[in-house]
Amino acid sequence: MRWFEKSVFYEVYMKSFCDGNADGFGDFIGLKERLPYLRELGVTGLWLTPFYPSMQVDNGYDVSDYMNVDPIYGTMADFRDFMTAAKQNGMAVIIDIVLNHTAINHSWFKAHPEYYVWKEAPNNWESFFGGSAFTYSAEQNAYYYHSFAKEQVDLNWTKPAVMQEAKQILQFWLEEGVAGFRFDVINNLTVDTTFPDNPFDELGEMIHKFDRNQPGVQAVIAELASFCRACKPDVFLVGEISSDDLNEIASYSRNDLLDVTFNFNFGSIEKLAVTKIFDELVRMEEVIPERLPTLFFGSHDMGRLMSRLANENRSVAKLLAFLMLTARGIPFIYNGEEVGMRNQVFGAIHELRDIQGMQAYHLALQDGASEQSALEVANQKTRDVGRGPMLFADGKSFSEGKPWILGRNETDLDKLEMFRYYKRLLEFRGQAGFQTEAYKKLVLEEDAIQYVRGRYLFVANFGETDFSIKKSGKLAFGEAMQSENYFIVSPFSGVVIELEA
Ligand code: GLC
Repeated sequence: MRWFEKSVFYEVYMKSFCDGNADGFGDFIGLKERLPYLRELGVTGLWLTPFYPSMQVDNGYDVSDYMNVDPIYGTMADFRDFMTAAKQNGMAVIIDIVLNHTAINHSWFKAHPEYYVWKEAPNNWESFFGGSAFTYSAEQNAYYYHSFAKEQVDLNWTKPAVMQEAKQILQFWLEEGVAGFRFDVINNLTVDTTFPDNPFDELGEMIHKFDRNQPGVQAVIAELASFCRACKPDVFLVGEISSDDLNEIASYSRNDLLDVTFNFNFGSIEKLAVTKIFDELVRMEEVIPERLPTLFFGSHDMGRLMSRLANENRSVAKLLAFLMLTARGIPFIYNGEEVGMRNQVFGAIHELRDIQGMQAYHLALQDGASEQSALEVANQKTRDVGRGPMLFADGKSFSEGKPWILGRNETDLDKLEMFRYYKRLLEFRGQAGFQTEAYKKLVLEEDAIQYVRGRYLFVANFGETDFSIKKSGKLAFGEAMQSENYFIVSPFSGVVIELEA
C-alpha cells in the first residue's frame, strides 16, 4: 500500500485561497495561516496550482521561471515556512508543474529558441483557447507552436536539453520537500513533427489526431517518472490527460508512468445524471481494475459542483461529496466545495480574469453579439466561475484588500453545516478503514448507487423518492428512517451500513 492510496487531496487555487498581506491575491502566508482549517476539515494532501513567476496570462500556467515563487504569492522563504508548517499539520503537498509550455517571456525563449517547436508556415492546428496554434516571430522569421495562448509556447520534447532542464526543475522541488506533482496537460508534450493537418468531426470540432497522445509521449513521461522515483521512491505522480477517451486516459496510469490520472468523464459532466456517474464508476473498474481512479466533481477549470451539478441544492451537493469520499479512488476536493460555494457571476467584462472567458467575449462581439449577450457567453465559457475568492466557514474573509477577481457569489449562509458534513464524512473515512478495499458489489438500483467495500454497504440515493433497503446490519454513517425490516434512505442522501459479520 502506498501512502497516497489512503489520502484525500484538496486543490488550493492559490490566487483565491487566502491572502496574508491584503493585496487581494492569495499567498503562502495566508495558506499557512489556514493549515489548521484544512487539518480540521480532515484532508491529508494538498495540490497547489502554479505559484511560479508568471506573465499571468493564464493565471500561472504560463511559467516564466520554474524554480522560484511569484512575488504575489510571497518569497521562497514563505514557501519554506509553509512547507514546514504543512508537515507539522500532517499534510503532503503536491505541486502543479507545467512542462508542456513556458511563458513567452521565459529566458529560454530568447536564449534557446531550439527548445521550442518552429514551423515555416502554420498548418490547421487550433489552439485550445481558439484561433491558430501558430504565431509568427519576426526574430526567427518562423512560426512557433502554442497549444494554448500565444504567450504559452510549447516546448520541443525531442530535444534532450529540454528533458535535462525538466529534471533539474523536478529535482529542485523534490529537494524542497514536495511529495509529488500534478503534471499539467502531460499528454500534449509531443506532436507529430511532420505536422499533418488535423481532421474534424461531424460537428466541425477539431480532432487532435496529430498534436496529442503521440507515439513518443509515453517514453518521455516514463523518463520523467523514473527520474522522480529515483529522487524520491514514494513520490506521487498525478497526470492531467487532455482526452475524454477513458482507455487513453488509463493508458498513462502504469507502474512505469503515472500513479493516477484525472478522468474528466466522471468529474466534469455538465449535468447531474446518476446513470452517467454510475456507468463511469463501473468503467473505471473495468479499465483499470488494479489501479486507483481519481474522484472529483470540481476544479479550477470547471463550474462549481454546487451550481453545475447540484442546482444549488445542498442535499445533492452533500450526496456528491458522499460518493466522492467513499467510492474507490483518490478524491480531490476543490477549495470551496466544503462550504458549498456556488459559481461566481460576473456583471461586467472587467471583472473577469480568465483568458478563456475574455476570448469568448471578444469572439462573440466580433460575430455581432450585443455587449449584454457577449457577457452571457463569457459567463458561460469562463473558468472564473469556479475561481472566486474562498468563503470560509468561520466567516473570515479571504482578503482584507480588494480581491484580484470580482463578480458576485451568492453562496448561502449555511456554510458551516456543509463544512461539518465534509468533516464528519472525512472523519468516518479515516476511522472506518475502507479506503483501499475493492468493491464486493457495485450496482445501481432505481436511482440508488450501492457498493460494498470491506464490511460496509454504501447507499447513495440520487432519486427523488425514498429508497428502501433490507436491514442487514447497523447504520454507521448518515441518517435513515427504519422500519422493522428496512432502512429508508431519503431522496438525495447517503448512508453507510455496517454489515453483520
Ligand atoms: C490545464 C490547467 C488549465 C490551463 C491549461 C494550460 O488544463 O488546468 O487551467 O489553462 O492546463 O496550461
